[in-house]
Amino acid sequence: MSNVITISNHKGGVGKTTSAINIGAGLNRLGKKILLIDLDPQANLSQSLGLTDQERTIYGALRGEHNLQPIEITKGLDIVPSTLDLSGAEVELSGEAGREYILKELIEPLRSSYDYIIIDSPPSLGLLTINALTASNEVLIPLQAQYLALRGLSKLLEVVEKITKRLNKELKVGGVFITQYDSRKVLNRDVVATIETHFKSELFNTKIRDNIALAEAPAKGVDIFSYQPKSYGAEDYLLLCKEILKRNRQ
Ligand SMILES: Nc1ncnc2c1ncn2[C@@H]1O[C@H](COP(=O)(O)OP(=O)(O)OP(=O)(O)O)[C@@H](O)[C@H]1O
Ligand SMILES: [Mg+2]
Repeated sequence: MSNVITISNHKGGVGKTTSAINIGAGLNRLGKKILLIDLDPQANLSQSLGLTDQERTIYGALRGEHNLQPIEITKGLDIVPSTLDLSGAEVELSGEAGREYILKELIEPLRSSYDYIIIDSPPSLGLLTINALTASNEVLIPLQAQYLALRGLSKLLEVVEKITKRLNKELKVGGVFITQYDSRKVLNRDVVATIETHFKSELFNTKIRDNIALAEAPAKGVDIFSYQPKSYGAEDYLLLCKEILKRNRQ
């Protein structure tokens, strides 16, 4: 059965989508079969992999129009794309019975086909994120090494705790990791020290450095390993993937 991982932080622009793509692609390079699910109405993950205007999206599936229909990007790396229409889903689904479980039900038949199912979530703690967390056994939290990085994080941890208690006993925090790190900046180093004190063993050793190639790859419609395999970005995400595999074995 696959591991279902949500990448979540309701703070915007911290690297959720970049991490979902490149953790997925990295684990794929390490031999794992991966499904990426774009659960963000911004559809950045889909666009970053060159998928726009798809017919069968996560939106149609959540509305009950069809099953999840993954599209193959490369061998062993599939994606269920999103669409801007998904922004209506929070309201449309809010009155449904069992509305928190819709994604979990959709994923269930696919769980035996993949090693990892990775869900990119929007920068909010609304119904879409709750669906993602209810469907997952792990949440990974990217943190920017910036002032106020930890601000508001207690809200996310509170939501995770409530979901574990009420909706999904399997869910746990798989760890936090630092993105867009620049060791030359004193502020970055100070923030990392605070995060280390706060999270201890939950913090991954690997820091994702600030690397322009990571910001460029989406314009080419590919992951960092296809775009610039020798970049810091590729190096860091591959190391992070190895850490994820090691933690999962333990
Ligand atoms: N390590 C990095 N180095 C340089 N740029 C990065 C890095 N990680 C992400 N970026 C860039 O920062 C911006 C925000 O990243 P991303 O879209 O992954 O964040 P997000 O958390 O998914 O945002 P949102 O909350 O809007 O969904 C993007 O332009 C991305 O290309
Ligand atoms: Mg995003």
